[in-house]
Amino acid sequence: MRRDLPSIPAEAFRVGMRRLAAGVTIVTAMHDGARNGLTATAVTSLSADPPQVLVCVNRTATAHDLIHRGAALCVNILAQEHRDLAARFAGMDGVHGPERFDIGTWTTLVTGSPVLSDAIAAFDCVVDEAVDSATHTIFIGRVVGISAREDGRPLVYEAGRFGTFSATPERRPRTGGVRASSTRRRGSRR
Ligand SMILES: Cc1cc2nc3c(=O)[nH]c(=O)nc-3n(C[C@H](O)[C@H](O)[C@H](O)COP(=O)(O)O)c2cc1C
Repeated sequence: MRRDLPSIPAEAFRVGMRRLAAGVTIVTAMHDGARNGLTATAVTSLSADPPQVLVCVNRTATAHDLIHRGAALCVNILAQEHRDLAARFAGMDGVHGPERFDIGTWTTLVTGSPVLSDAIAAFDCVVDEAVDSATHTIFIGRVVGISAREDGRPLVYEAGRFGTFSATPERRPRTGGVRASSTRRRGSRR
């Protein structure tokens, strides 16, 4: 452990991390009949076998303790049409708690955690492990239920803005000053 090296200032860290474009999710939980959720981008796959995801939740988030107590959560990957939902579950429109679910269509899969019916994909998980680190808890979720759409463009967040993803055109390799064409035989001259 290199504890001797000082960390950079938190604000410098935030400025840098804002440039990491990330897919936007809503992480939900349900326990003892209470539902809650939050918008989250600190979400990643951990392993495929077993299928596990990793979700970092601030301990001040009101859904944090519900995830802990119910030992379950669902990661709902948002599509571009879910921008208002993302703002709501980020507390941007002032609505908190179970009222957040008044918009969107919600169902369940295995654990009872709320599943957004038209999420691009939803991973219903049991929490296998929870690791506290500084202000957040890292929840390791084992996926026990899944739903996924064929269509839909993901909602993305970068530099404080919501947007979407578009593929960049593939560049064909240049050879000998002219673009390679699929018809030319290797080493042949026209
Ligand atoms: C795009 C975006 C991504 C976010 N990612 C996370 C995250 O990964 N983990 C987290 O704890 N909070 C994250 N937040 C903040 C929570 O969504 C926000 O604090 C929310 O209001 C917490 O719920 P609460 O109001 O019920 O406490 C994010 C916010 C936004 C706008």
